[in-house]
Amino acid sequence: MTDVRRRTVLAAAGGTAIAGKAATIARAQGPPGPADGTGKPPPPPPPGPHEARVQALLGRMTVEEKLGQLQQLAWTGDTGPGGGQTAQAEKAARAGRLGSVLNIYGAKTTNTLQRMAVEKSRLGIPLIFGLDVIHGLWTTFPIPLAQAASFDPAVAERDAEVSAKEARSNGVHWAFSPMMDVTHEPRWGRIAEGNGEDPYLTAVFAAAKTRGYQGDDLRAKDRVAACAKHLVAYGGAEGGRDYNTVDVSEARLRNLYLGPFRAAVDAGVATVMASFNTVSGVPAHGNRHVLTSILKEEWSYDGFVVSDYNGVQEMTVHGYAADRADAGRLALNAGVDMEMASTTIAEYGKRLLRNGQITTARLDDAVARILRLKFRLGLFAHPYADEDAAVTGPTKATRATAREAAARTMVLLTNEKSTLPLDTSTGAIAVVGPFGDSTDLRGSWAGPWVKAFRPVTVLDGVKHAAPRAHVTHAKGVDAAGKDTGGIRKAVAVARAADVAIVVVGEGSTLSGEASVRSDISLPGQQEKLIAAIADSGTPFVVVLLSGRPLTMGGWLHSAAAVLEAWHPGIEGGNAIADVLFGTVNPGGKLPVTFPRAVGQIPIYYNHENTGRPYDPANHYTSKYLDLANGPQFPFGHGLSYTTFDIGAPRLSVSRIRAEALRKGDTIEVAVSVRNTGRRAGDEVVQLYLRDPVASIVQPVRRLCGFRRVGLGTGKSTTVRFRLGAEDLGFWTHDPDGELLVQKGEIQFYAGNSSLAKAERTLTIT
Ligand code: BGC
Repeated sequence: MTDVRRRTVLAAAGGTAIAGKAATIARAQGPPGPADGTGKPPPPPPPGPHEARVQALLGRMTVEEKLGQLQQLAWTGDTGPGGGQTAQAEKAARAGRLGSVLNIYGAKTTNTLQRMAVEKSRLGIPLIFGLDVIHGLWTTFPIPLAQAASFDPAVAERDAEVSAKEARSNGVHWAFSPMMDVTHEPRWGRIAEGNGEDPYLTAVFAAAKTRGYQGDDLRAKDRVAACAKHLVAYGGAEGGRDYNTVDVSEARLRNLYLGPFRAAVDAGVATVMASFNTVSGVPAHGNRHVLTSILKEEWSYDGFVVSDYNGVQEMTVHGYAADRADAGRLALNAGVDMEMASTTIAEYGKRLLRNGQITTARLDDAVARILRLKFRLGLFAHPYADEDAAVTGPTKATRATAREAAARTMVLLTNEKSTLPLDTSTGAIAVVGPFGDSTDLRGSWAGPWVKAFRPVTVLDGVKHAAPRAHVTHAKGVDAAGKDTGGIRKAVAVARAADVAIVVVGEGSTLSGEASVRSDISLPGQQEKLIAAIADSGTPFVVVLLSGRPLTMGGWLHSAAAVLEAWHPGIEGGNAIADVLFGTVNPGGKLPVTFPRAVGQIPIYYNHENTGRPYDPANHYTSKYLDLANGPQFPFGHGLSYTTFDIGAPRLSVSRIRAEALRKGDTIEVAVSVRNTGRRAGDEVVQLYLRDPVASIVQPVRRLCGFRRVGLGTGKSTTVRFRLGAEDLGFWTHDPDGELLVQKGEIQFYAGNSSLAKAERTLTIT
């Protein structure tokens, strides 16, 4: 906060005009730095098992070697501007002036470069290799948004385990994942990479994925270091436009965005990545309040912070750093430990030290954090990947895991007259639509490396699932574009069938980084295709593939059933067929609200009440004149082929003292659930709470517990949630982090979506 505070004080001291002058004087005298405390390193973590070696090594390093450890270069320019830095990386590795390389994989390739660092440089410090392994390396799992829809953290953990094994055996020590940017913006393409709109759900998944990547011992041949990203509030980008401004109060920062990072830190996440956006006027890369005061001091985080791609240098474009040297100074002093792609700290560090604008103490702190991870990963003892043991593709077992995971992520949005599941003995089935036989199922973060492995298409999956059926296919229209010429054939194919499966959606390049849409309906002529199939008279179901919530319009109710299948990964077609034919009873739930129209965005379930919530009987209430109130589908929604009865929450106590909660006391909330239908299936028991009167207005409800349970027909069980101060209280605007547990009532709701009705009240005294 010091940087921010300093600026505030200047403004306050002299009014607007003088503040401008004061700022000019400050820059002319040399930009602020250690003198105002910003260069002070956070307190060192308690000594770990490698500390003596870290300090001994640090003692032998020159300033250039130390600055080199802070540098990460890009082997290829695949994921950012500026192109690859291959030759520069090789030179720096030999000179012992490089800490890490990204966008590199392959046992042989990484070993060749590692040899330059280990065998040619003066101190032989190994490099750490990082890659965006977000939802699989070879074995592509469903996108993270889909994984969240499983409401089953084991799905994320499995993905991370499989990914870690494939990555580590290919020389990759570090996955830039999990991404935990909570967002209210379906236009934002990166919604695909996160876990949706809820901080609690995201926190649970962040911890699970961290555990899956890292295991108990980072030296293991099948584990990698994880990276919690992007710190922070990146999902709050104005208008959903990527990289855009975020202005956020301290309370919202803590209540909405920071929780998942805290959960990842508590789960031992090895690294954290800064975000591209500004946080209330200060770029995250220069934001000492976030990177040091909260992360490293308040949370005692002992890992390191990596910048995002060129993020340090881009502070000059933001209008925060005067030049590249200034950017390096601001980043290091704020708490960035390693610079990705841009080279400001390595280039100007010596000069900044000489001028007293950064301190040796802070530099050493950053280097020590990086060396510690290299020791934890066992890189000094085993710097090389075993080239004979490299996993070179998906296996039968990993495909089976990906298929099971994908089937668990699917959300049955509608199912009129129980049209689904389909009968495998159906005589003729038409698979129509641009994604019916498409291999574009992998999702936005399946890197160029996976092109060799063809995903199972929906058509393949349907043929496997219903081997005796006559299965036909027509594309109808392209995934985008204006041509409607193929619709006639698609209608003919549908007419000749007993049922049509219409597979529509958006291609995977329409979500992900820098892939923002202003219109989130089905692209191209796909709605026209659906309308034509509806007119054909053949019963049809819609399978939606998407990296975000889509707006649906009139076609929604023309379909007998709609299944949201997201971007389901390499086994997508089989997993979709598993659900369509009922081998798997769908149990996924929406991790994000589906709006009726773009004009409603932001729309999210955990909003605050206005003083005039919508009331159809009263004109002067909060609403849109031209749209029905509320979402198309609420957060937590998802149907099953069976039915469940969820009881009211039962509290272990009806009253508890705030003081007791503050001291660590907890309450138990029990919820019973029974399968009342005719099939075995999964239900997600969801527990929400509301604090109806608080000193800072609270959301109308927020998720505080969930459990996915599988129940046979007629069977029941009770799920139990333990809740303490952090669940029942809320964070205030206090920059030093104040959690308030206030006296009064807390209402609990249990059910199978955010519309949960069954209610009980706890009184805090
Ligand atoms: C993204 C990060 C990613 C990095 C490295 C950036 O553009 O924002 O999420 O890890 O590139 O590829």
